[in-house]
Amino acid sequence: MSSKQRALVTGATSGIGEAAAVQLAERGYEVITLCHERAHGESARERILARVPAAEVTLLEADLASLASVRAAAADFVARSEGRPLDVLIHDAGTTTKAREVTEDGFEKMLAVDLIGPFALTLPLLPLLRAAKPGRVVQLAGIYHRRGHLDLDDLHFERREWSMMEANNQAQLARVLFACELAARHDPSELVANAVHPGAVLTNAQRDAPWWAKVLIHTVARPAFVRPERGAEPVVRLATDPSLAGVSGKFFDRMREAPLVDQAQDTALRAALWERLEAMTAG
Ligand SMILES: NC(=O)c1ccc[n+]([C@@H]2O[C@H](COP(=O)([O-])OP(=O)(O)OC[C@H]3O[C@@H](n4cnc5c(N)ncnc54)[C@H](OP(=O)(O)O)[C@@H]3O)[C@@H](O)[C@H]2O)c1
Repeated sequence: MSSKQRALVTGATSGIGEAAAVQLAERGYEVITLCHERAHGESARERILARVPAAEVTLLEADLASLASVRAAAADFVARSEGRPLDVLIHDAGTTTKAREVTEDGFEKMLAVDLIGPFALTLPLLPLLRAAKPGRVVQLAGIYHRRGHLDLDDLHFERREWSMMEANNQAQLARVLFACELAARHDPSELVANAVHPGAVLTNAQRDAPWWAKVLIHTVARPAFVRPERGAEPVVRLATDPSLAGVSGKFFDRMREAPLVDQAQDTALRAALWERLEAMTAG
C-alpha cells in the first residue's frame, strides 16, 4: 500500500480540477479522481499520467447529482482506504443547466451537483480527513456568490422563478457557507476548510454559454481569462501550502484572502443550511 499523502479531487476530468490533479501528482500526492462518466475518468487519468508518469491515480465513480450514487461511492472509498488518512478533499465539480432541472432526489440540479452531493460525500469521509491532522477541504466557489441569495425556504426554486444566474449564484454562495460551517465545526488541528474563487478560467464551463457570450469570451474578454493550470494554483496552494495549515473558514479570491460575505458570517444561517443539508441527505 502506498505511503503517499492522498487527495480526492472531484471534477478532475476537465478544467481546473484536472489541472489541480496534475499539480497534486507533481507534488507527490496519490490522487483519487471522482468521475461521473467512467470514460471521462479514464481519459483524464491517461492525460495526468502523460504529464506525471510516476503518478498514482485511481478513479472513484459517482454522479454527484444522485444521492444513491454518492453514498455508494463514499462507502466504497472508505472501505478501500482501510483507515488510511485522506489529506486533501477538493470539491471542484460543478455544473450549469440551461433550464431548471430536477434530480432523481427532487433537488434543483445545480445545487445538487455543486453542494448537496458534495455534502453527502464529505460526511462519511470526515474520520479519514480528521486522521490526516489536519485534513484539508478546499471548496471552489465563484466570485458571484457575493450576489447570491440563499432562500432556505425555496432552495430548489419551486416558488421563485429559476434563472441560470440566480441558481448559480445561490449554489456558489451556499458552497461558501458550507466551507465556513465545516471549518467552524472542527478544530483546525484536525480539519481545515476554505473556499476559493479561481479567477476567470477558460474551461468546458463556457461550453454551454450563449453564442454571444462565447464570442465575447474568445475576443474582447479573452485577456481576462486564464488557463486551467493557472486557475488551479490557488486551489492547490490551499490544499498543500504548509504556511496555510492552520487557516480555516476563509474565502480566497485567487491567492488573496478576501472578506467573507455577511451570510457566511451569519452563524445561525450557516447552521440552518447545514441542518437542511443533513435532512436532505439523510437516508
Ligand atoms: N471556470 C471559471 O471561470 C470558474 C470561475 C469560478 C468558479 N468556478 C468553479 O470551478 C469548478 C470547476 O469548473 P471548471 O471551469 O473547471 O469547469 P469544467 O471544466 O466544466 O469542469 C466541471 C467538472 O465537474 C464534473 N461534473 C459535472 N457534473 C458532475 C456530476 N453530476 N457528478 C460528478 N462530476 C460532475 C465534470 O465532469 P465531466 O467532464 O465528466 O462532465 C468536470 O470534471 C466549478 O465548481 C465552478 O463552479 C469556475
